[in-house]
Amino acid sequence: MNTSSSLFLRALNGQNHAENGLWRPPVWLMRQAGRYMPEYRALRKKASFLQMCEHPELICEVTLQPIQYLNVDAAILFSDILIVAKCFGLELTFEEGRGPVFARPISSVQDLISRPCSETLSFVGEGIRLLKKELQVPLIGFCGAPFTVASYFIEGQSSQTLFKTRTWAFEDRQSFLQVIDKLTAISIDYLKLQVEAGVDAVQVFDTWASFLPPDLFEACCFNPLKKITSEIEKLGVPVILFGKGGEQSALRLSACGSTGVSADWSASLPLLREKIGKKKVLQGNLDPAILLASPKIIEKELNTLLDAMQDDPAYIFNLGHGITKETPPEHVAFLVKCLQARSPTEYCQGMKPCGSLS
Ligand code: CP3
Repeated sequence: MNTSSSLFLRALNGQNHAENGLWRPPVWLMRQAGRYMPEYRALRKKASFLQMCEHPELICEVTLQPIQYLNVDAAILFSDILIVAKCFGLELTFEEGRGPVFARPISSVQDLISRPCSETLSFVGEGIRLLKKELQVPLIGFCGAPFTVASYFIEGQSSQTLFKTRTWAFEDRQSFLQVIDKLTAISIDYLKLQVEAGVDAVQVFDTWASFLPPDLFEACCFNPLKKITSEIEKLGVPVILFGKGGEQSALRLSACGSTGVSADWSASLPLLREKIGKKKVLQGNLDPAILLASPKIIEKELNTLLDAMQDDPAYIFNLGHGITKETPPEHVAFLVKCLQARSPTEYCQGMKPCGSLS
């Protein structure tokens, strides 16, 4: 894909400069495909979430849904960070109201015997190849970071505290680090499969990295993320690291050597920009709760953030976390239209004025 024709790739190069005095950041949204969209729910009536993730045609169709509806500047592959459970033969289901559930959570490093992604996750590569034929915007691939994926394998389900995971890390650091090593290897294997199939950038989700104290963060997050990032950026594909936990977490992640860092909504992006320097790409971080508020509030909060990041050539607009399933789709469309209206001549032709929904 030609960098100059994509706002997203331009920003990843730190080169999204104003033209004729006009500037807007590129926009894509975490969970831009999902249950808030009626088109997605209609498909989900016929297939389970995992069945959808395993069919190249469905991966392609669902990834395209928000591109058509929202006209965002990048697509993110439709899948899940836990799909790598397949490489280890772990039995996973997604249950309504409960999320991911592992039939047998892992309790020792011997529970993790892996097969290569080329054998177990080839449908993802096929989905990406189909998408690259259809898409006019860049495609973002992704994986979960070793620590965050390990936490689901160990807890067996979503957890507010990660007590089992953290206890293991303290009680037997050596075997815990072996688990992290295995997941680091599979993450690299999996991202390479995605890069070979054609993704233009990659986001690594270390959602729960901020749960660890500094020494464990270094061993379980910093070192593996640094390794994954250098292996993938070597291939010419930029990496963005996401984690919850405000500025402190974003600052820790920014030291791992990636092109970009994505912050959650509790961080101040201008403050991060000041601390991180001009070069690192910053992404985020509107609170997804704002999308449940009225269009007037959405526009006000969006403008506050955009004013604070005005003319930043290395800024990518996103939410601070994924869109929730309760979000009215027209609020999401309104957000994107308001943002694109920052650069009126290029993006506003034929569009209703902002505020027309309020
Ligand atoms: O962002 C996108 O649109 C790309 C697809 C994507 C999904 N999950 C689809 C999904 C991505 C990048 C993820 C990342 C993911 N998955 C993370 C890291 C980011 C974060 O949210 O912190 C984590 C921790 C998971 C694990 C996961 N998957 C959980 C805990 C759940 C259940 C909770 C929930 O939000 O439903 C999922 C399910 C899931 N992943 C759905 C989707 C569209 C809903 C599935 C359905 O249709 O029932």
